[in-house]
Amino acid sequence: MSAVGLPLWLLAELTYRCPLQCPYCSNPLEYAQIKKELSTEEWCNVFDQARAMGAAQLGFSGGEPLVRQDLDTLIAHAHHLGFYTNLITSGIGLTEEKIERFKHAGLDHIQISFQASDPLVNDALAGSKHAFEHKLEMAKLVKKYDYPMVLNFVIHRHNIEQIGQMIELSVALGADSVELAVCQFYGWAKLNRQGLLPTREQLKVAEEVTNQYRQKLQQMNASYKLIFVVPDYYETRPKPCMNGWGKVFLTVAPDGMALPCHAARQLPIQFPYVQEQSLKQIWYESVGFNHFRGDTWMPEPCQSCDEKEKDYGGCRCQAFMLTGKAENTDPVCSKSPHHDVILQAQQQAENEIAIDQLVARNSRNSKKIISVVGVE
Ligand code: FES
Repeated sequence: MSAVGLPLWLLAELTYRCPLQCPYCSNPLEYAQIKKELSTEEWCNVFDQARAMGAAQLGFSGGEPLVRQDLDTLIAHAHHLGFYTNLITSGIGLTEEKIERFKHAGLDHIQISFQASDPLVNDALAGSKHAFEHKLEMAKLVKKYDYPMVLNFVIHRHNIEQIGQMIELSVALGADSVELAVCQFYGWAKLNRQGLLPTREQLKVAEEVTNQYRQKLQQMNASYKLIFVVPDYYETRPKPCMNGWGKVFLTVAPDGMALPCHAARQLPIQFPYVQEQSLKQIWYESVGFNHFRGDTWMPEPCQSCDEKEKDYGGCRCQAFMLTGKAENTDPVCSKSPHHDVILQAQQQAENEIAIDQLVARNSRNSKKIISVVGVE
């Protein structure tokens, strides 16, 4: 038990409800059948336990966390416990009054996600008119109330050419940092991967543009942080997903399921619920959290690989989605016997797919998927 680290990061997925319909959402495809949400008291209890175990950072996410009417209470409780709190939001549902109230409740940080740098693409992807305008307004207010602010742009083939404008928009809005993160292919993003994965050429250009802006900012001595996250689909070694399974991250889903990462719900592993076990039992003793700790579970080529301490065999969820077995080496690795699925995905990215062909993340589509696949 002593070798197990502390759950330093707690991600509270407060709800799967969301007013937007982003086709790259990482929520489960079957979210429409997960209606139950933890109550205010249950969440506060989770925060108490996590903080007592050493958790220091708490992210409020979803779905859209702003749809929870008790968000003030949850922020105030977390603040009182000494958490560093971050609201991860689309900005839809945010108002000046809420921004002010959250400040009083002790919220430390706000991250607003944008779909693009122009209203046309932004609102088409979000599936909502005027979303872009509202986000702009909210971002300005977040700075008016003196929060540290990160703007997050999820990058894919339909907006990757706007990277320069995204950086300029973030600087103009006074963001402290911008995260240009190419889609991670989980949940709805995996379903829409063929229409989202940028081409290698698009990525190359985007990286060049980002580096030019980095130099410009350096010359201006700006303290602004520019983070560009490339998709692992163009790598030959996998990412050390979540910094290792059950090492520092603890996610609690809206219905109370505790997970080592936001995407693990799809795995054929039984994960515990916070209503049934203490967080301590869940973290240290549950089958789900211990499943991929250490390296005894690793097959070859990971088992004898001298990089296994560095990448932990990659992402378990990706291995499951792409090879059917979570134990397999992440196929991103060029040593994986399944690496050809990644090469195929790169090839598919060369085909044109229009925005309106993407499957929107909404209850209607989720129910359709449940009825076809029969997800339990
Ligand atoms: Fe689950 Fe990588 S997202 S292990």
